[in-house]
Amino acid sequence: MLEVKSLYVSYGGVQALTNVSVHVKEGEFVSLIGSNGAGKTTLLNSIMNIVGRQKGSALFQGKEVSKVSTADMVTRGVALVPEGRRVFSNMSVRENLEMGGFKRPVSEVKAKLAEVTEMFPVLGDRASQMAGMLSGGEQQMLAIGRALMSAPKILLMDEPSMGLAPLVIKEVYEKLKVLAESGLTILLVEQNASIALKYAQRGYVLENGRIIMQGKASELLGDNEVKRAYLGKEYKEKWER
Ligand SMILES: Nc1ncnc2c1ncn2[C@@H]1O[C@H](COP(=O)(O)OP(=O)(O)OP(=O)(O)O)[C@@H](O)[C@H]1O
Ligand SMILES: [Mg+2]
Repeated sequence: MLEVKSLYVSYGGVQALTNVSVHVKEGEFVSLIGSNGAGKTTLLNSIMNIVGRQKGSALFQGKEVSKVSTADMVTRGVALVPEGRRVFSNMSVRENLEMGGFKRPVSEVKAKLAEVTEMFPVLGDRASQMAGMLSGGEQQMLAIGRALMSAPKILLMDEPSMGLAPLVIKEVYEKLKVLAESGLTILLVEQNASIALKYAQRGYVLENGRIIMQGKASELLGDNEVKRAYLGKEYKEKWER
């Protein structure tokens, strides 16, 4: 469904991505893990054509999309839930959701709104409150809901666990699981390797802008190098005691 081929991105002198190739099949849940500064956000922003590339191509549903505007990427069915959520704090929850559907006809927006608030009841309950009043977890749900308003075929998720407590992280991932089971394709990037790989079917490891490993998520989770480099404290507690 989505295929990124030999992608190179640099910011001035900083080479952020080098020869990155990633693909996601229809219906798959794929996680790409990597530490701080590995290039995860750059990859998603490049797919959305928010940042430009030096080399490489991106195909979505078999069509070259590397020159398509960001707004048209959304229209074609690619939605990004950005790092740090970026909800519009001074707008109501409902307005935030409506913003996500801005490319759609009014009748469709209404139907989507009903669907999204059924999926995330808290967004319905708090529809008229300012988004800035929501907790971090609720804001993450809102950011996901906003992306769903554009009726995406694939959801790109940037670091959904960021700044959230473990129980809330689990809640967010359980929602992603439901969405995946309903047929939505997901490409997620995370520093939190253990949860990202636990919920995905397939995974990639990005280090210093290069893919250094890929495979079934369960195999990556069991890999000693991945454990040492990315499972950190949790790994030490489980295996090094
Ligand atoms: N706008 C920018 N201008 C210059 N350098 C940038 C810019 N954005 C990112 N970089 C650099 O590109 C590299 C990759 O950054 P990126 O934000 O993609 O990493 P990341 O994996 O998302 O990190 P994090 O886990 O902290 O979100 C880093 O070296 C970063 O400093
Ligand atoms: Mg990032």
